[in-house]
Formats: sequence, C-alpha cells, structure tokens
Amino acid sequence: MKRAAGIKVSKKDAETARRILKDQGLLMPLKARQNGESIIFPAENPCLSLGSISFEIVEADFHEFSGPDEFDVLQRRLGCKISSYDVTGDLAVLEIPLDFEAHETGLAEALLASKKNLKAVFKKSSSVEGAQRVRKITWLAGEKRTVTVHREHGCQFKLDIAQVFFSPRLSFERQRILGQVRDGEAIVDMFAGVGPYSIVIAKHRDVRILGIDINEPAVQFFKENIRINKVSDRVQAVFGDCRTYSPKKSADRVIMNLPKGAKDFYPTALETLKSGGGIIHHYGVSPRERLYEAEIDFILNTAAEQGRSAEIIGRRIVRSYSPSEVHVAIDVEVGM
Ligand SMILES: C[S@@+](CC[C@H](N)C(=O)[O-])C[C@H]1O[C@@H](n2cnc3c(N)ncnc32)[C@H](O)[C@@H]1O
Repeated sequence: MKRAAGIKVSKKDAETARRILKDQGLLMPLKARQNGESIIFPAENPCLSLGSISFEIVEADFHEFSGPDEFDVLQRRLGCKISSYDVTGDLAVLEIPLDFEAHETGLAEALLASKKNLKAVFKKSSSVEGAQRVRKITWLAGEKRTVTVHREHGCQFKLDIAQVFFSPRLSFERQRILGQVRDGEAIVDMFAGVGPYSIVIAKHRDVRILGIDINEPAVQFFKENIRINKVSDRVQAVFGDCRTYSPKKSADRVIMNLPKGAKDFYPTALETLKSGGGIIHHYGVSPRERLYEAEIDFILNTAAEQGRSAEIIGRRIVRSYSPSEVHVAIDVEVGM
C-alpha cells in the first residue's frame, strides 16, 4: 500500500476522469480504489481541471500493481514499445511499429489476455482519411466485430469503429465545451459524427441541438444514440452537408470539430450564428512553431470580411497531430 493524493469522482464520471488524467500524464501507477459510489484515482498533481466533472481532492492508501502483465512482458521480450492505444468500448486499436508486424497477432493476443475489459484488438491500417475522417483497421485478435458501445460521462455511444470517426481522447474537450454551455442555448454541431458532443451537452443542459454529418452510417448511429441516451426532445440528427443544412441566423453556439478542413466551413459557421452573435468552437491543425497564429489570423479576417467583430476567448492544444503539428481548439466570440 502507498499513501498518495487522489481525485475522488462519482462512478458515472470515473471512465472519463481516468482518461483525462491519463491523457494529461497525471495518473500515478497505482490501483484506483472504490469508495461507496465513488472511485478515487491516484494523481500526480491534483491541481487540475476535469472540465465539468465535479471532484474532490483526498488522501488515500492505494494498492500497488502486482507487476507487468502479459502484454508488457511480451513487449519487453521483443524490445517493442507500444506506448498507447485507443480503446473504444470493448475494442482496442493499436499502432504496430513496422519492425514488429511479424509479432502483431501475438501482441494483440497478449493485450487481450491482459485487459479483461477488451473483447477484440485491431491495428491501424491507414491514417484518418477522406471527407468522412475514417481510419482503415485490420482485425488481429478476439471477437470479429467492429460495433461497440462506448461509455463516457453518463452517456453511451454506439458506433462502428470501421465506418465512422470517433475518438475517446476527445472526452476532455467535450467536458470543456459542456462547461461553457448554458441552459436555453440553440446549438449547431456541424460535424457531429455519431453525436458525442451533442449528446454529452444535451444530457446535462436544457438546450436545442441540431447535429449534421455527411457520413450516413454515422448519422444512423447518431439517431440510435439520441434514443439510447433519451435526448430526442433536445437533439435532432441530420444526414447531409452542413453547408446546406446549417440554418442561417439560428445558433447561439456552433461546434466545428473538423480539424483538417474546418476553415472551408468557417463562413458557414458565421452565417449560422444569430445576428446578435454567439460562440464558435473552431478546431484546427497548427504548426508547433507559430502556434495558433495562422488560425487566429484567418478567423479574425474572415469575420471582418462578413462585417462582424470577433474575439478569441479561449485556446488550447488538444493533442499532438504530427511531429511538427498540433491539434488545437480555439473558442471565438462573434459579435453583431
Ligand atoms: C473529426 S470527425 C468529428 C465527429 C464528431 N464530432 C466526433 O467528435 O466524434 C468530422 C466529421 O465531419 C463529417 N463531415 C465532413 N465534412 C462534412 C460536411 N461537409 N458536412 C457535414 N459533415 C461533414 C465527417 O463525416 C466526420 O464524421
């Protein structure tokens, strides 16, 4: 047992909180502990933000892990380092280093044996590509299915990892945006996918949301997710191009989660805001050097071309995109 600082959250928020702590490198290598209806995570630096998740900072005794699991042991034996992998629901997607492709089945089977919550393991076979931002994946081990249900912050997202975009790593972003939304808002989610932003917001706020996507299977799952999460009185899912389906002068807030390409749609986002103004959550890819500069120039200039005032009210690095680029979020307050 080791005594350490911990973050106490309710069970329903535990998976989201764990992922945020892990993404920020704050999770200590000790076992989380259960305390009634709460979970306590051992955290390096408890002075942190968990978006809209409420948490308490406590001190607790944590059990140490019993030792490396089968996946760690095999990686060490091969001299291979798979630092992270995405888990969506009960499916994992690994990036297998080129030199270790001959061992990919063994690595996938070892991962399955080590993580009891996983039912199948796939490898990345392409980058996220095309207008629909879908990655090709190849089955390696476990059940032969690609449909799963991912749980996050009291919501459930059913989706097919082979047909739609979904990133469990954006859970903090969803929490961050949720933290800014007020009851009564009208929101357009221009690149909604299977609806994670729309559903997380609608589950916790009394709002009206229109979510649009050009990927038909994604919109089918989005509709199913609206039903599963019981938010059909607040969210409507539409299949189509957001340039056609975003209603002009209708929104207090527009979410533009299309980092590669959002700029082409920024004029549409401005037209979608009410004439009195509102907020745009813009996502982009920015070079690490001259971070945010080109994005912010573009945002302010395009607003000026439409005769509207705009102010940057928030910005953050969401995650690394390539060795020289990062995925950024920029919050813009647009005036009349
Ligand atoms: C990066 S994904 C984000 C999906 C979702 N917001 C999420 O966080 O999981 C971008 C989405 O935009 C959709 N998309 C791309 N171009 C579009 C367009 N012109 N109109 C509507 N949706 C579009 C893609 O199909 C894809 O689902």
